[in-house]
Amino acid sequence: MSDIDIQRETWATRAGFILAAVGSAVGLGNIWRFPFQVGQEGGAAFLLAYLLFIVLVGFPAMLVEFVVGRHTELNPVGALRAVGGGTWTYVGWIFIATGFVVLSYYSVVAGWTVRYAFLGLQDGYLADAAEAEAQFVSLASGLDAIFFHALFMAVVIVIVALGIQQGIELAVRLMVPAIVVITLGMAAYAFTLEGAGEAYSYYLSPEWGLFLTEWQSILPAAAGQAFFTLSLGMGAMITYASYLGEDQNLAEDGAIIIGFDTGIAFIMGLVVFPILFTAGIDPADPGAGAIFVSLAAAFGDLALGWLVGFVFFTTVAIAALSSAISLMEVVVSYVIDERNVDRKIAASVVGAAMFVLGIPSAYDLVLLDLIDLFADQILLVLGGLLLMILVGWVLPDLAVDELSRGIGDLGALAPAWIWAVRIPVVVVLIVALALGILEYYEFLTGEFAEWIADQ
Ligand code: PHE
Repeated sequence: MSDIDIQRETWATRAGFILAAVGSAVGLGNIWRFPFQVGQEGGAAFLLAYLLFIVLVGFPAMLVEFVVGRHTELNPVGALRAVGGGTWTYVGWIFIATGFVVLSYYSVVAGWTVRYAFLGLQDGYLADAAEAEAQFVSLASGLDAIFFHALFMAVVIVIVALGIQQGIELAVRLMVPAIVVITLGMAAYAFTLEGAGEAYSYYLSPEWGLFLTEWQSILPAAAGQAFFTLSLGMGAMITYASYLGEDQNLAEDGAIIIGFDTGIAFIMGLVVFPILFTAGIDPADPGAGAIFVSLAAAFGDLALGWLVGFVFFTTVAIAALSSAISLMEVVVSYVIDERNVDRKIAASVVGAAMFVLGIPSAYDLVLLDLIDLFADQILLVLGGLLLMILVGWVLPDLAVDELSRGIGDLGALAPAWIWAVRIPVVVVLIVALALGILEYYEFLTGEFAEWIADQ
């Protein structure tokens, strides 16, 4: 035994693992993306399509990441080398690269949420939509943005540096219950607002007509959201599952995690829309700054809006933090496992590098789009797709074996799972990848080319 061969860390409890995974899943995607997608893309009709993708694609894919992580007890690169070997090792590299790039700008957006929480305590929010927009543009890029990006990244570094049990597990034990309680509290508050009735019907009335004419764009959006919101395609769930010491029922864990993630996303809609409707703000044109422009303007309009806004943005910041630590852990676990670097040094160096990479995103919104679209629509989908092909088509026996640990005989669940991975998951990811590449090409030749020309 070599002297560097120290015992790998594990979660202290089963609840610790589940909370960490819920914390990873519940993030910006649940709050600024999900409710607005439901509202705009067919209400309950979209919701049904989304739930279908969660069950058919998200759940099987999550179990794939879990078994690869628990089986190898390694970071994504080590894990892929161990189960696939050869060229498959590069899939692990894609995960590391995706985690690295995504956290660089995720931290910028999270920094905005911290900035906006403070705004409530300072001057309050601007009720005028045009002024709120101008304020967002000035706060979203430049020194302000860089400062809050640095602050947020520093907190992520500290938590990850403290390790699995003393850092991440302890943090999520506080953060996840707080997110759940505050979200429920805000939904109860929103229920009392005068615009609530109108808001609920906007949010949830099924628009089958819209769905039938626009399904070509609605379905991929629902599929992409299902993947992103469950933190799949970046090795985050591989990494978290690699710290599982004992055999527990991963299917049950996955179902609990998905239930929480979907529940919080759904309830956020019950929070956001009553606030918008009560302030008389049209929820239909949110754009990237949805919660920072329209919602902030609504906070400016409501009685005690500064307080509601402060609570809301603080919750978003906490949700972003519990997601960000999982992204950093992907890269840090690699540096620790493969380079034998001490955890504290690994977290500091990785965090500092991510901070630097995020500076362009904090400098200009177009650069944030440039990097976000690439990571989100291409890298993430590509990594996820290759992993699903490997496990579904090349290593099904290993996967079924591993899943049955902690469950026992899988019976019909085994073929159902493997075939879900082989066909629906793989097909959905191939389509999503093709669409993602097209969209990126359009962005590069359109908005981005104009931006370059303006410089
Ligand atoms: N699931 C997170 C969200 O909904 C995003 C995320 C993806 C976090 C991948 C970690 C890993 O915002």
